[in-house]
Amino acid sequence: MSQGIPKEFWDARFSEDGFAYGDRPSRLLLGWSDLIASNCKTALVPASGQGRDAVFLAELGLDVTAVDISPVGLERTAELAARKGVSVKTIEADLFAWAWPEAKFDLVASMFAHVPSAVRPHLHSHFSKSLAPGGFVFLEGFTQDQIGYQEKYQSGGPPDVDMLYSAEDIRSDFEGLREESLLTGIERLEEGPYHTGPAALLRAVFTKAGN
Ligand SMILES: C[S@@+](CC[C@H](N)C(=O)[O-])C[C@H]1O[C@@H](n2cnc3c(N)ncnc32)[C@H](O)[C@@H]1O
Repeated sequence: MSQGIPKEFWDARFSEDGFAYGDRPSRLLLGWSDLIASNCKTALVPASGQGRDAVFLAELGLDVTAVDISPVGLERTAELAARKGVSVKTIEADLFAWAWPEAKFDLVASMFAHVPSAVRPHLHSHFSKSLAPGGFVFLEGFTQDQIGYQEKYQSGGPPDVDMLYSAEDIRSDFEGLREESLLTGIERLEEGPYHTGPAALLRAVFTKAGN
């Protein structure tokens, strides 16, 4: 992110034809979609890219706010939302400078928002604080094993082990929340040209204590 990969990189990637990470939602959100639809009304999607997850959550009936540093990604989000007949509120902002709302959202969906380890716990603390009581964090990304899978299969992620996840780090970042699920393993991605092939993934769900 700005404290990692610069905005210009993302604008260029999102200006290419098609959807860099596909226009279908992450498998994590797909897998939990019944629970999301029956428990959540509002969602925040930080580092929302071209909007695949924000639009999916809007299709489930949620009131969705998508925040990204790339205006090109947000334009593609608006186009995808219009194509699907839903609306998503888009905000162009640097997540490290944004005035994060507190105790507001029923769900935060963070997919592949990899940042340097020095700033990752701070970013993740905003996810927790922005949740309403009873709210959910859904987080997906690459584990440190992805370095080997990138080399072999070009299946995505930052080429810097410092920006990749470990289960231990993610548990530590969200230690104030309850762990509902945390899975790591190898799976074959089919999510557009930059997320295709065998990959080392982490998927986690945490909840904030209710009222
Ligand atoms: C690998 S992409 C993931 C996009 C999306 N979550 C997905 O899975 O399709 C990382 C995203 O982080 C965004 N990003 C990077 N730095 C950011 C920052 N400082 N503030 C907000 N968004 C940022 C990029 O513009 C890009 O959309």
